[in-house]
Amino acid sequence: MRVTATVNGQSQQADDVWEGESLLYILRERMGLPGSKNACEQGECGSCTVYLDGVPVCACLVAAGQVEGREVVTVEGLADPDALHPVQQAFLETGAVQCGFCTPGLLVQTHDLLARTPRPTDPEIREALAGNLCRCTGYEKILDAVRLAAERGAGGPA
Ligand code: FES
Ligand code: FES
Repeated sequence: MRVTATVNGQSQQADDVWEGESLLYILRERMGLPGSKNACEQGECGSCTVYLDGVPVCACLVAAGQVEGREVVTVEGLADPDALHPVQQAFLETGAVQCGFCTPGLLVQTHDLLARTPRPTDPEIREALAGNLCRCTGYEKILDAVRLAAERGAGGPA
């Protein structure tokens, strides 16, 4: 089957897609977008989080055929060509990235959180990121990153 979707603002097409392929698979293997990571492929870790029609989803759980005609934004789509998104910059500056496997999903989820809640409380941050697992950082640096991004108005005015 052929799958056509808008990915990071551009029309993308994948041919000969098998019914069992996931959105994550076609992003990484057919569309040249390896930013979203495959850590569990079971919807447990959040490392594959992308926006589908503006809603964060685990791309490993979405069948490729389900995205026909829809809009996908991946971690690659958050940044401008010339600059990191403020959420990305905050993760970088606070040391919230170690191996980086969880980072793309955390960035998308944080981007969504701050768009909805520009000045989240710590419990709100923890709840929003509860589905994103990190084996490296102990989460404190990640909390620092979200707080810093919020302070800088990454989600817009509070
Ligand atoms: S790879 Fe999709 S949730 Fe873990
Ligand atoms: S930085 Fe390694 S899993 Fe989070």
